[in-house]
Amino acid sequence: MAKEEMLRIAEELARSAGSLIRKKLGGCFTTGYKSCPADLVTEVDKQSQAIILDGLQKHFPSHCLVAEEKENSVFSPGDRATWYVDPLDGTTNFVFGLPFCAVSIALTENESAVLGVVYDPLRDEMFTAVRGSGTMLNGSPVKVDRSRNTLEQSLLVTGFPVNPKNKELMAAARMKDVIFKSLNLRALGSAALELAYVACGRLTGFWEVTLRPWDVAAGAILVKESGGEVSGIMGEPLKLSEYVSIVASNGAIHRDLLDTLGYKNFPL
Ligand code: IPD
Ligand code: CA
Ligand code: CA
Repeated sequence: MAKEEMLRIAEELARSAGSLIRKKLGGCFTTGYKSCPADLVTEVDKQSQAIILDGLQKHFPSHCLVAEEKENSVFSPGDRATWYVDPLDGTTNFVFGLPFCAVSIALTENESAVLGVVYDPLRDEMFTAVRGSGTMLNGSPVKVDRSRNTLEQSLLVTGFPVNPKNKELMAAARMKDVIFKSLNLRALGSAALELAYVACGRLTGFWEVTLRPWDVAAGAILVKESGGEVSGIMGEPLKLSEYVSIVASNGAIHRDLLDTLGYKNFPL
């Protein structure tokens, strides 16, 4: 099947799941938690995931599925075609009725992303990319903002892990340098949508530690295909392993952002 056809299927599933999220935001749903009380999950995460995984299973029965609320996800699928699904990225925002969340779906082959979809159901914004074909927002091409080529001109974004061990790694960034050197810093609460915003130039650079592969798989290809740069926090090539620490940017500020964060001096 052509990649464009696979993308169309992923978009359709993201829209169906997104319409559920849109209907439920601000309404009633049950909420629980996973690894710790701040690691929230709702029935909507699970319902959204069921819509997407049922659809993927139907269309691609031989493909491997890695999804946030799915038990026994295989994190090293090797050369198998693999879908990475975050059915609701931004659950904490969603629980608080804060309208900033997304559905994120990516397909990898030989451990490299070939297409990605990040859908914001609250603004009806569909970000898509197929490897080699650029990044689109609602069907029109978008690019990173390379006009901002210093940290002083850059609006950065990050996120804060929920469990104490991961907070240590977050806190090891040279936050004071980042705050003083950049134009300003945001934490919007959806890694997938933050990456999509870097891809379309609304934000200049992003980093976050100890994310999961479904948080970043789609967003990372959006950034690459829109002319930006994506790496690990030491500048190494990004790998979609069980935990992912990532820096993504318009490319122009990438080295400066890595150096300012200072993770290369931190014993990981
Ligand atoms: C979270 C969001 C958030 C990031 C967290 C993620 P979830 O995903 O992407 O921005 O800071 O680390 O876990 O749990 O809402 O799907
Ligand atoms: Ca997520
Ligand atoms: Ca999620």
